Amino acid sequence: MEFHELLRTRRSIRDFEPRPVEAEKMRAVLEAANAAPSAGDLQAYEIVLVTDPGVRSALAAAAHEQPCMLAAPAMLVFFANPARTSGRYGCRGIELYCLQDASIACAYAQLRATDLGLGSVWVGSFEDAAVRAAVGAHERLLPVAILPIGHPAESPEPTPRRGVEDLVKLGRF
Ligand SMILES: Cc1cc2nc3c(=O)[nH]c(=O)nc-3n(C[C@H](O)[C@H](O)[C@H](O)COP(=O)(O)O)c2cc1C
Repeated sequence: MEFHELLRTRRSIRDFEPRPVEAEKMRAVLEAANAAPSAGDLQAYEIVLVTDPGVRSALAAAAHEQPCMLAAPAMLVFFANPARTSGRYGCRGIELYCLQDASIACAYAQLRATDLGLGSVWVGSFEDAAVRAAVGAHERLLPVAILPIGHPAESPEPTPRRGVEDLVKLGRF
């Protein structure tokens, strides 16, 4: 898909067909995440790919039983991993870079999913400890986002955006 078209047509998809995501498409989504920039090339994040129904149920419970979590055949869980960045960047790595690394990797994954005709939604509302428990993550990892992914079963309208003139200050506030 042409890049501008990709940005224009991407939507949060919260209802999915039950059929699984093809392995080669999931691989391409993960390759896109891996292509994202990161502070000092440290890639201070981990990704867990979940397809097991029991683990998906546990993640859905951790995310307050949101319908998109119940419907998706696959999920990617993005964890910030401060230990990968603390040695070089100290507090800034721990408090900021690992969150940014995980976030931009998730954004790249979401855009590639759209490019492949898949649907996804960025889920940020969840209980951290329950997410960790669902996938057996160490307590030093911070869950940043869950990306349920599947074949879209809905076609939502665009949501509102601020005007660019409102968003952007020219030179200073
Ligand atoms: C940080 C963040 C957290 C979000 N958390 C949730 C969530 O928990 N549940 C949900 O259904 N959507 C969630 N969303 C998706 C937004 O609601 C959605 O991106 C926004 O309404 C814009 O719609 P669009 O993605 O279709 O352009 C989240 C998005 C972001 C960026």
